Amino acid sequence: MERVKKYDKTLLIDSSDSKGIKDCARHLVNGEVIGFPTETVYGLGCDARNGEAVKKVFEAKGRPADNPLICHIGDKDQIKDIVSEITPLAQRLIDAFMPGPITVVMKKAACISDETTAGLDTVGVRMPSNPVANEFLKACGVPVAAPSANLSGRPSPTGARSVLEDMDGYIYAVIDGGDSEFGLESTVVDCTGTTPVILRPGAVTKADIDSVLKGGEAVMSGSLADKETPKAPGMKYRHYAPYAQVEIMKMPEGTKIEGDDAMGSDGKISGATCTVEDLKKLSDDEAKELVNIVSPFILRSREILSSNPFARIGLYCGSEIKAMYDKMNDKILSAHTEFCVYGKTVDVSAASHGLFEGLRYLDVQEVDVILAQGFDGEGLSVAYMNRLSKASGKKEELTPGMPKPARPSRTPLPLDAFKDTFTASVLFVDDNNTSLSCCLESLMRRMLEKNEPYTSNRESDTGVEIYCESAGLTAMDGMDPDSQMDKAVKEISGIGINSIESRRANPAIYDCNDLILTVRDEQAFSIIKAFPEIKEKVFSLSTFAAANGLVMKDSSGKVMSISVPDPTGENFETYLHTAKALNAWLEILFPYIIKELGAARI
Ligand code: TXA
Ligand code: MG
Repeated sequence: MERVKKYDKTLLIDSSDSKGIKDCARHLVNGEVIGFPTETVYGLGCDARNGEAVKKVFEAKGRPADNPLICHIGDKDQIKDIVSEITPLAQRLIDAFMPGPITVVMKKAACISDETTAGLDTVGVRMPSNPVANEFLKACGVPVAAPSANLSGRPSPTGARSVLEDMDGYIYAVIDGGDSEFGLESTVVDCTGTTPVILRPGAVTKADIDSVLKGGEAVMSGSLADKETPKAPGMKYRHYAPYAQVEIMKMPEGTKIEGDDAMGSDGKISGATCTVEDLKKLSDDEAKELVNIVSPFILRSREILSSNPFARIGLYCGSEIKAMYDKMNDKILSAHTEFCVYGKTVDVSAASHGLFEGLRYLDVQEVDVILAQGFDGEGLSVAYMNRLSKASGKKEELTPGMPKPARPSRTPLPLDAFKDTFTASVLFVDDNNTSLSCCLESLMRRMLEKNEPYTSNRESDTGVEIYCESAGLTAMDGMDPDSQMDKAVKEISGIGINSIESRRANPAIYDCNDLILTVRDEQAFSIIKAFPEIKEKVFSLSTFAAANGLVMKDSSGKVMSISVPDPTGENFETYLHTAKALNAWLEILFPYIIKELGAARI
């Protein structure tokens, strides 16, 4: 099934735009596909009665046709029209949990297309509690078949931007309703028999369901008590998978988890943060418990780095863990670690809320491995661990026919989307400023543009504008750049160094820059010798790599340094070789440079 772009751009409709929402509903009834928010994750909706429209959803998602879609309604009165039987059990769950994060599987009525249910004689029915979803579904008036709005195999989207990332140009519009409240998909319960079978765990927990049964209890699909019901067809594939490999860090036994009773906590997230200062206020027992939680992260990180000093590690963890890392202040470990903090470490509700966006965020930081906090509770923890174990599946267990997840490129956000912005700048220095330093400046500028925008790695609502420039220790001002180097750089990135005029490095230039990188070691030493007060921000390419633990050793175990020969006077091939080598080093150093400048990609 070929995935074909159908639109130049997918429309983004604000949730306050009631005319826009009505327009989306009209387009849906006319056979288009619309992305919309719910309290669980964003959905990709179409008319469930229209087989041709449903095919468009499967195509946009790249989803295998044997995996049924669930039907969304805006009014409980619609249920009788789309199912052929409501068992007393189904009625009980409908009364207790709808609207809310539950999908009740019942026998289907003829009006629901076979494409929607993938040929099954049952249909999953769900009435979201999210007010924007409700407004949209009411305006549609038809049953809306909708899977989660991600590309098959990728983490489900819990914000409109992530929907656009996977779907831009493939669907007519997305309604932006902000962050999803729960962040994990609905609980899917088969109610065609007398015992509820939980096909997919979610925020409505087994205990919640048991509490409304008149005797008996729900069974988990695949458990011994459940011999007959087939699993939700979608649960058999690797899912929710970021590009990086995911590993689960176990929570020590006996740790008291919070937010496991998701419905009880109303899905509300506390934005808890913990600083190094706060750690000092912990009691001895609390501190000991925290050390036990953080240890698996540190041990595993060190193990990964000892076998690959270039590895980049993402942590999906609580804020106390990040504070512990800050307190340890291990420069190399920190340089290789990217954090995505969900809130209080023991809060599984916060961890669930942030999981999918967190996995996407860490992918954008280009980490190789994601170490994610595990939970061993029995309520919401079951749903959280279900998603996390699927995300940590082996790469070979991909949905058949789907390509490996690609490193995502993010939809650019305008800088004015941030509350605040600050600027940061890096300076490249060589002896003259006509060749190597210009090459670095130009290539760095291209990389910066490609990865825009940047956010502060401390506060996500603060943007960072990053600049780069170059200068030469013994340069004359106003010289033209080396034409051979211009040609070489143009060949690599499409844009040469023609527009760069040479200038001599001086204290005013050093002052304007937050990081100074010289081509060779001696140059960094000479700057530090003359201006010891700025030593913290001056490195050569080699010493910067070493300071970040990016060391290569030769066969005798000696650390190799980055050596860049000067191609001046040599033929063009030598220039090209040098420019390519600098480009390769910059690509390795790039994430460390922006981190040093206090920035992260988003
Ligand atoms: O929270 C949610 O349920 C979100 C939002 C958008 O409502 N939707 C969602 O849809 O997660 P989807 O398609 O990504 O996952 C639906 C799951 C799949 O695992 C599918 O196999 C299962 O429900 N399912 C759907 N209809 C079924 C049926 N008739 N019998 C058994 N399983 C079914
Ligand atoms: Mg899904």
